[in-house]
Amino acid sequence: MGLANRNLITIDDLSNQEIGAVFTLANEMSDSMSEQLGVCRGKIMASLFFEPSTRTRLSFETAMLRLGGSIVSVTDAQLTSLAKGESITDMARVVGSYADIIVIRHPWEGAARVVADYAGVPVINAGDGGHEHPTQTLCDLYTLKREKQTISGLKIALWGDLKHGRTIHSLAYALARFGATILFHPGTGLEIPDYVISKLTTEYGGELEPAGTGRFLPLDAIYMTPDKPHQLAMIPEASLRVELKEGIDAVYVTRLQRERLSTTKESEPSSYPVVDKKLLKGKEFKKSLIMHPLPRFNELDHEIDADQRSMYFQQAAWGVPVRMALTALLLGAREIPLPAEADYTAPHRDYPTYQRDFGVRCLNPQCVSVQESEARYIKPGFKIVNYRPLTLRCIYCEHEIHPRFIASSEWHEGCIASKKYHRADSHWTRKIRPENLIIFNSSDDAEAHGFKPSYYATKHHPKGNKEEL
Ligand code: NCD
Repeated sequence: MGLANRNLITIDDLSNQEIGAVFTLANEMSDSMSEQLGVCRGKIMASLFFEPSTRTRLSFETAMLRLGGSIVSVTDAQLTSLAKGESITDMARVVGSYADIIVIRHPWEGAARVVADYAGVPVINAGDGGHEHPTQTLCDLYTLKREKQTISGLKIALWGDLKHGRTIHSLAYALARFGATILFHPGTGLEIPDYVISKLTTEYGGELEPAGTGRFLPLDAIYMTPDKPHQLAMIPEASLRVELKEGIDAVYVTRLQRERLSTTKESEPSSYPVVDKKLLKGKEFKKSLIMHPLPRFNELDHEIDADQRSMYFQQAAWGVPVRMALTALLLGAREIPLPAEADYTAPHRDYPTYQRDFGVRCLNPQCVSVQESEARYIKPGFKIVNYRPLTLRCIYCEHEIHPRFIASSEWHEGCIASKKYHRADSHWTRKIRPENLIIFNSSDDAEAHGFKPSYYATKHHPKGNKEEL
């Protein structure tokens, strides 16, 4: 399948082969920049940035101009009808009728997916809140590939705000898929979120080994066996020390995402890891590339800018050819043949989808599906990733929830007495056919829809049937 007319919302929208194809074209385009002016002539890119941006917006716009196309752009939500309460779907429909491709950055997690559902033209996610930033990951992987030739088997440390950093989340998935070992080095309280770990371990076969005391670097690690990616490798602590002494291939540093702390009312971390000259004297960093999506704050000392290992400005510079290649491919202005041999493609597990316009809703306050202007029309949707315990993954922001109560839409020919709800950890969760399942966040919600507690709603329930999620 070619890339024409596709969206790039999460890094999993591209297989490893397709990422390889983007890089092949990026190499070609960076070697012949001045010859690309005819590639997208007559095409228009809408660049919609509802959050600050320097590199991502300007590199997309530069990319489109270097391909001979044109740009229409928004850089301030206050200047659009969103400020008048317009939904992002209406905006998507309208902008999709003006432009041939849309690049969107938005603070709500899952916003780019909603825009893609309605725009009718290819949509690229340029960052949706703290969720994902797949094109930054393309720049990161491209940099690694150019500098280290391969990604498989590399040891990469992810550094800083692993909780809110969308670049971290997309990169972690991609590194796992390419068979790199990931070492996590978060600031205090900024550990990688559970839903990301859950995907890394269930979908990619990684195994999380938490940092024990006495490690010479306080790192958690996800191990991927390079020769057999997606199979878990257990590395005991002793070998971990040896591994790290052998060297870390890249340190991917990120700033504290202060803007996300204020929306979730979290406090500043008590400590935040810094990369400076002193740290880089360590033997394990001898051959480490120092990477950063930028902008930096003070987690990356200016004194290392001239160090040969520092790659962050180069990383930003590769943003133009990488985004030129991606844009040309999605617009169908260029095609690149994909190698026929089997490669590991992005995991699209066949989880059953649960979607109803009442009952369970996403509990992530940043999720697009719970925003006032959007909740009117977005039908909450989830992948059922596990039945025991019942685990739902939001199709928009991918946060996971463990709802407590379930019922069936088939309640015995409408006999009101048998309209019952049960606890989600009762046998009913598996017994009710997925298409008949109704899931509630709370017993109150179930009762508001006319369901009465069954024997299985209260059994073993210390606080009766009123306990909420
Ligand atoms: C990143 C982002 O916006 O998520 N920047 C970028 O796109 N280069 C990282 C950040 O803002 O910290």
